[in-house]
Amino acid sequence: MKINYQETTSDLLTRINIHDAYGARDIDKWMLEVLPLEQGMTILDVGCGAGKQCFSYLTYLSGKANITGGDVSKELLAKAEEENAKLGKRVTFQELDFNQTFPLASDTYDLLSCCFAIYYAEDIPFTIKEMHRVLKPGGHLFTTGPMPENKRMFYDIIHETTGKEIPPMPGSSRYASQILASLQSEFSEVRVEIFENPLTFPQVEPFLAYTRASLSEDRRLWNAFFQTKEDFEKIMAKIAEVAQKRFDHNKQLVMTKVVGGFLAEK
Ligand SMILES: C[S@@+](CC[C@H](N)C(=O)[O-])C[C@H]1O[C@@H](n2cnc3c(N)ncnc32)[C@H](O)[C@@H]1O
Repeated sequence: MKINYQETTSDLLTRINIHDAYGARDIDKWMLEVLPLEQGMTILDVGCGAGKQCFSYLTYLSGKANITGGDVSKELLAKAEEENAKLGKRVTFQELDFNQTFPLASDTYDLLSCCFAIYYAEDIPFTIKEMHRVLKPGGHLFTTGPMPENKRMFYDIIHETTGKEIPPMPGSSRYASQILASLQSEFSEVRVEIFENPLTFPQVEPFLAYTRASLSEDRRLWNAFFQTKEDFEKIMAKIAEVAQKRFDHNKQLVMTKVVGGFLAEK
């Protein structure tokens, strides 16, 4: 499956900031509870983006771990390096395309994480095999991604606005099905954890900012909805009306993120 996807730094950071501001729960805290983290570990974070998870592990382990972050986006890696410089360059960041053989030795890592990224892989079994290869025997792979019921209100509003069926999303359409099945066939044991986080918007504006950052993240998937910037702005204006009606009725807008954490042992 060829996935035309390119995360932009500003869209990703906009969504992270909105989760922080309006979410009831902290996903980084949840991950730290679920992950088998110990000082002295060798850790690889694949699809590391601007380094959110790498820096969270570094702080949690008081800097006593060997942490590498890999991503295909030079722009996001540069952002990660900016933060890394402030923290004394304790994390190694490198280019890594998970659609290619990883430029890394086999049996190397105690823990490999891949947060909100694995579903962009073109060939899921290939990428999972590569992740399995670079893990030490007994090492763990942890992935996160959207479950099918994720962000229902967001999709309901877009459906109500356009009258069109929502296209299958690379994440929610295959994370709990194809990706979980691939993990189960490659690894000896897979545990499934669920994280639910209601985002409560006290005005319509932050929901619209989220919608913009989310639609443009996956803009090629929304081809049937808009192609030009003008079409996009027209749809955004209609989404604003539908969201405002819901808001006037309920006095708030609540969008629940439903995330699956899959912890697999080699
Ligand atoms: C939604 S972001 C998540 C980033 C980070 N893990 C976080 O949670 O903030 C998805 C990430 O997957 C990366 N990505 C997409 N395709 C990739 C590929 N072929 N190889 C490596 N990373 C990729 C993107 O560049 C982006 O950083």
